[in-house]
This record gives sequence, structure tokens and C-alpha cells, in this order.
Amino acid sequence: MPLTINTPLDMHLHLRDEAMLHNIAKASSDTFSGAIIMPNLVPPVSSKEALIAYKQRILLATNDNSFTPYMTLFFKPSYDKIFLASIKDEITAIKLYPAGITTNSEEGVSGFDIEALRPALEAMSDLEIPLCVHGETNGFVMDREAEFASIYEDLASAFPNLKIIMEHITTKSSVDLLDKYPNLYATITIHHLLITLDDVAGGMLQPHLFCKPIAKRPEDRDALRKVALSAHPKVMFGSDSAPHPKEAKEACGCAAGVFTAPIALQLLAELFDTQDASQENLQAFISGNAQAIYGIAPTDKVITLEKTPFKVPSDYNGVVPMYANEEIAYSIKEIQTSQS
Ligand code: NCD
Ligand code: ZN
Repeated sequence: MPLTINTPLDMHLHLRDEAMLHNIAKASSDTFSGAIIMPNLVPPVSSKEALIAYKQRILLATNDNSFTPYMTLFFKPSYDKIFLASIKDEITAIKLYPAGITTNSEEGVSGFDIEALRPALEAMSDLEIPLCVHGETNGFVMDREAEFASIYEDLASAFPNLKIIMEHITTKSSVDLLDKYPNLYATITIHHLLITLDDVAGGMLQPHLFCKPIAKRPEDRDALRKVALSAHPKVMFGSDSAPHPKEAKEACGCAAGVFTAPIALQLLAELFDTQDASQENLQAFISGNAQAIYGIAPTDKVITLEKTPFKVPSDYNGVVPMYANEEIAYSIKEIQTSQS
């Protein structure tokens, strides 16, 4: 029986810029109604002019009025309320990166001195601008996210009216925080629901599965699955689809990021099916929860999938996707927009 998904949203997406943007934008805009666009360009998107210009370039590359890019600004502790009020209508959230923790995050926050961050975060709280956070310390790679839990707790308690989204969570420790603080939410990727560190490095090293945060233990994946498959109201799908050129992945010094945009919906359909989770929960995880959390109303788009094998292409314009050349169980059969 075909499966339909309404108005899918990708609440964490890297669309890049220039040639790469043009090469991969349609992989998201064809099948999603909207996406939260990450600001980690070089240089990062941290001014109103840069943000508006970037949005225009995205609209040009997607050329599809059934896809909404929800823009984010790269967090700087120096943002004041006047500036934030002036940009509020252009953005959906602000993304905070610890300095140097992942691709193009060098201009992020060093040290987590809550008092130093207070003016900007209080202004965001007053203006009701959500804060998205890449939650990793620079500790031992497997412990980075768990070590960040205390920072999430400090932020959540210090700014109780600020919506804080723990981006691409990979650990049980992050899942446990969801029910502890009313203002903490999370995005979860499809790859972290499917793989563990074993898939990345347990056999031959798999550069196309290497990302930040790195995939963790089976018990962490189980904890993620539990909240995603039951559509816990505080979790949303965010692919963290992060394309890099093939040469940058298949290299000595592999760039972090998994490219999943073109197969995300098919893989989610397969996972919810094999795990006996309901279609209703899939719908909530992939759209309803995000609409409620962010208060957004994207354009309708109905995706019909069917259980027919799909052979994942070897690359999309020079970018190798997850599961390249492998067969996955679901295919996209039809895409209906309100225009079509
Ligand atoms: C992302 C990228 O390449 O921009 N990489 C990744 O491994 N996820 C950045 C990020 O979200 O950490
Ligand atoms: Zn990301």
C-alpha cells in the first residue's frame, strides 16, 4: 500500500553556496515543503545583508515556490536587541556553534560563559527567536555530546523562556534532557537513527558516514529511535544533510558530513515500517511537531512513497550520498504540490 507524507520539513539542512548550492538544492526542494537552513558558510551568515542575499540565492537555485527556506543567523555574542529586532522577521532561528567544533564554525563561541552570552540570549528570549545549538565540547570524541549536557542544562535554566533546540542529538544523555526542561527540544537525523560507530569505523572506514557528532553506541541509537518512532512532541526530523565534494570525503583528512537529502524520506518510511511505528507518528516526526514547535505553516506538498526498491545513485552532481549504489526499500512515487 502506498504511503503518503504531508508537508515534510527538514529542520536542519546545509544547502551551501555557489556551485554546490545549485548542484544539491533540488534534492531538498523537490521533496520537502521547507527546511531550516544552516548559516555555516565561509564567511558565516551573520549580517542582515548577507542573510537576505543568501536567501535570494537559495530561492534562485531551488526555483520552486512550494519550498520555503527558513533562514538562520550564525550566533555571535555581540548581537544586541536593536539588531535582533531588525532581523527578526527575516529569520526563523539563530544557530550557535562552539568555535572550531565542526565544518566552518571557527567564528563560533569559545568557552561557555553564560554571563557573556546573557545580553544576546535574553534579547532572543524577549523577541521569541529560537536558539539552535550544536552541542559538543572539544573533549574525547565519543563523549563530546554527553559533556555538553551540563551546558544545555545551564542554558535552559538561565533562559527559561528561550526555545533551545539541541541539534542532531546522538546520545541517550541528550534524549533524557527533553523531559527535564520544558524549553529544550531536539532534531534527529535519519543516519543517527540507522547507524552506530560500528558502521562508520567497525570495518573498512566509511568516509560517507563520517559526520559531527559521530554516530555513537547501539544504546544511544535505541534511545533516539524510541523518541523518534513514538513522535515525542519535542523531537523533529532534521537531516543535517551536509554535502561535500567527493574529493573532500574520499581524502586523507575526510570532511565531516553525510549527504542524505535525496533519500531521507525513503529511509524514514522504511525505518518506521520495519520498526512497526505508525504512519501518524511518522507524520508528526517529519512535520507536525516542527510546525507546532516553531509556529510555522509551510506550503502543502504531498509525497507518495511505495515499497519498491530504489537503487541509490553513485553520486548527485559529484556528491556521494549515504548508501550510494545500494538498494533501499522505498521509492518516491508521486509529489503533489498545491500548484500541480
Ligand atoms: C556539517 C557541515 O558539513 O556543515 N557537518 C557535519 O558533520 N554534520 C556541520 C554540522 O552540522 O556539524
Ligand atoms: Zn549540521
